[in-house]
Amino acid sequence: VIDSLGLSIPIIQAPMAGAGGMALAQAVHAAGGLGSLPCAILSNDDFESTLKTLNGASNAPFNVNFFTHTAKPDDAAAQKRWRSALRSAYDAKGLDSSIDAPSVNRTPFSEYHCEQIEKHPPAVVSFHFGLPEASLIKRVKAVGCQVWSTATTVAEARWLEDHGVDAIIAQGSEAGGHRGLFLDPLTGDEQTSDDIGLIAYQVGTLSLVPQIVDAVSVPVIAAGGIADGRGMAAAMMLGASAVQIGTAYLFSKEATITAMHRQALWTGSAEKTALTNVFSGKPARSAVNDVMRSYGPMSTEVPPFPTAAAALGPLKAAAEAQSSGDYSSLWSGQSAGLAAALVLKHGQADNPPSAQDLTQWIAQDAQAAIAAVAKHS
Ligand SMILES: Cc1cc2nc3c(=O)[nH]c(=O)nc-3n(C[C@H](O)[C@H](O)[C@H](O)COP(=O)(O)O)c2cc1C
Repeated sequence: VIDSLGLSIPIIQAPMAGAGGMALAQAVHAAGGLGSLPCAILSNDDFESTLKTLNGASNAPFNVNFFTHTAKPDDAAAQKRWRSALRSAYDAKGLDSSIDAPSVNRTPFSEYHCEQIEKHPPAVVSFHFGLPEASLIKRVKAVGCQVWSTATTVAEARWLEDHGVDAIIAQGSEAGGHRGLFLDPLTGDEQTSDDIGLIAYQVGTLSLVPQIVDAVSVPVIAAGGIADGRGMAAAMMLGASAVQIGTAYLFSKEATITAMHRQALWTGSAEKTALTNVFSGKPARSAVNDVMRSYGPMSTEVPPFPTAAAALGPLKAAAEAQSSGDYSSLWSGQSAGLAAALVLKHGQADNPPSAQDLTQWIAQDAQAAIAAVAKHS
């Protein structure tokens, strides 16, 4: 399945909503990896022009990525509760916590997206938080797209295979950004609430990947904490057919993150990451900042995903205007330090490398690591 994409390097650039677009995907493609385009926060116009640009550019393979959460109606009472929990932060910034904050758009895959995919089919369509309904999957497959989705447990991987995915992204708990969690880790039932206790059951990449490889017959892509050649080599040894890398690409010049985010990754504050639900309502890994320390990292007060982001909006805007990332999601996996070391090794701390170079460095170092192991055995 993955071979059919014709990649010369089995690296998938993780789709990262808000952190990278076409330039990042194209740079990784130029190195021989698979570029991904996150669509979770795109407007319809941006989504359509992204698909058209992809198709217009070449027949090159790309991955187009969506969230598949169940969109919940805004709950005014829950919003009010969360804003009043944040009251001291609002007061400190001279903001009025009683005024409704504008809602934040994260759209799940829908009939509309499916129609557009049918018109301009990419090589791969990947999903986070499970899968959309079966009829939509069938249509995506009918136009020749591979369907991938994320599993954070063996049970989720089996569920995804039973529901017809072509490959599974095994996302260990080291990963930056949102956990793809969609089944209750204890009962195996479809998760209906974002119960904060569930996060205690998350599994690391080293344990997760080989157990998923053993449990399913579709290819497995390892994700979470892979940020240099050693990590890639280890994942391949565990049976992965490819790796999906996110955080390391945040160090590339094509990443579209803020200066505050870049600084958090570089200054070692990303050594301290935690799973937190304060930014969106669902657990995600971020470098620890003030809002996580004061109100989280996991909080029972936050409204459901994705509506929790609204109340932080005014705080985030006020803080960022003063060059502070205290209220911003600073998504980072646990291996940011490895990516920083890789960039330093190539002498590019002051001049961010291209994602093309990063891809090649990681792949070359992985090959060398595998060759070194072979020599010793
Ligand atoms: C900034 C950022 C944004 C992310 N956004 C998405 C997304 O939109 N869709 C998705 O499927 N995964 C997303 N992820 C998770 C990645 O797909 C992947 O699982 C993770 O980056 C792998 O771990 P690593 O960060 O340690 O490399 C995101 C990760 C990061 C760091």
